[in-house]
Amino acid sequence: MHLTMTSSGGMPSIPSSISPPPVSLPLRNIPGSYGFPLLGSISDRLDYYWFQGPDKFFRTRMEKNRSTVFRTNVPPSFPFFPTDPRVIAVLDCKSFAHLFDMEIVEKKNVLVGDFMPSISFTGNMRVCAYLDTSESQHSKIKNFITDILRRSSRIWISELESNLSTMWDGIESEIAKNKTSGFRNFLQPALFNFFSKTLAGADTAKSPEVAKSGYIDVIIWLGLQLVPTIHIGVLQPLEEIFLHSFRLPFFPIASRYQRLYDFFQKEGKEVVERGVTEFGLTKEEAIHNLIFTMGFNAYGGFSLFFPVLLDRILNDKTGLQQRILEEVRSKSSSGLTFESVKEMDLIYSLVYETLRLDPPVPSQYARARKDFKLTSYDSAYNIKKGELLCGYQPLVMRDPKVFDEPEAFNPDRFRGEKGVALLDYLFWSNGPQTGTPSEKNKQCAGKDLVVLTAVVFVAYIFKRYDSIAGEGGSITAFQRAN
Ligand code: HEM
Repeated sequence: MHLTMTSSGGMPSIPSSISPPPVSLPLRNIPGSYGFPLLGSISDRLDYYWFQGPDKFFRTRMEKNRSTVFRTNVPPSFPFFPTDPRVIAVLDCKSFAHLFDMEIVEKKNVLVGDFMPSISFTGNMRVCAYLDTSESQHSKIKNFITDILRRSSRIWISELESNLSTMWDGIESEIAKNKTSGFRNFLQPALFNFFSKTLAGADTAKSPEVAKSGYIDVIIWLGLQLVPTIHIGVLQPLEEIFLHSFRLPFFPIASRYQRLYDFFQKEGKEVVERGVTEFGLTKEEAIHNLIFTMGFNAYGGFSLFFPVLLDRILNDKTGLQQRILEEVRSKSSSGLTFESVKEMDLIYSLVYETLRLDPPVPSQYARARKDFKLTSYDSAYNIKKGELLCGYQPLVMRDPKVFDEPEAFNPDRFRGEKGVALLDYLFWSNGPQTGTPSEKNKQCAGKDLVVLTAVVFVAYIFKRYDSIAGEGGSITAFQRAN
């Protein structure tokens, strides 16, 4: 595949081979249908949440339509959601890349599709992730967050190591008592403390209540917003009736959210003030966006990503741990630093491969800003202004035209010249891994730090241990390094 890069203005760089027009492909009608009014969306909803689950849902429709671009409904929908479930699914790298082109799509209120949780969860305002690039607040807030990340890089690795140390101490003590330790119980407080400190400058030690339960409060706050969109798949039909039929209210978490607000207002004062004086935000905008970035984007993202990354290491039977260990020990004699970590290309590749196969944010949406022609490899399609595109990344990242043996987990995939070139097609951050997040696009502001943090997370383990063992989210044994 041809892999030259283009970069226009502040747009994310999209490989020319998968970027939109010039079009000389045959124009096709978009296959698939929305079915009969109401009945079609109910039937798709039940498939999505109950009979098939998202993966099979998209896969079977892709096969049935013999196309990676097709019409379908995605929930939440009938009966009590005032949403329009009709989307055009884009399931190959080339068609998916249209989601990054802010000239042809808009991203207003489509973070999780046509459905949007109540803004009472975010101080009655629309925070950054729901704003389109055409809205002036988007630039202000994205620049504010980018500035926070730039400044926090000073303490990023030291704070991360300190929280990882507490986390693994806790896991070791629990294994000594119970022979096994649930990894998440220690991961979540560590992540919460880490992001409070690095992003908001707020030390949880200053508030015993937040230190004790802040990380649980955020999980509940996230759950109430997102449950209507999440396939759980164990409690049917109760799940359909109680979790997928209406928006969940804010009031059960209101007082705890207020506690987080007060905490960030007080302990994150300096950061909040900078948001006001340097980026033109109101104090409330600065604090609610800080909570959202810290709680939803960062804490939420890593709470999903790290357990999967650890499972990949624990489940490997090919000697991966030994190879990681050799890389870490040979590259980190001066400690874990931005420079030493950059050299760990096996761990980088492992992190990329995990993000490819299990993107923590699986679905991305964007609405056509105007009529345009969308292209996949062999056809072009007319998209009308206002239509909603839905990309389901777990399938897009298995595009056989881009990735050899796409279903296989290959921790070396992104190494070497050929492997590095594949980064143009790694889309977990709502943009190519080679793109640059900016106020002109909607790519994850934390893109580079997310990868670096994951690399340090793995490197830390193999500086501390010669090997670890466990499964299903638990650690059962470890061999301490001498
Ligand atoms: C594993 C961790 C993470 C994952 C998987 C992740 C993924 C994503 C994705 C997919 C989007 C785009 C959503 C969309 O519009 O469709 C996004 C947006 C965003 N992310 Fe991340 N993210 C992670 C961590 C972080 C961190 C650590 C930060 C910053 C501290 C961050 C800040 C943001 C912001 C501010 C946006 C909105 C960008 C905009 O509106 O222009 N994320 N993230």
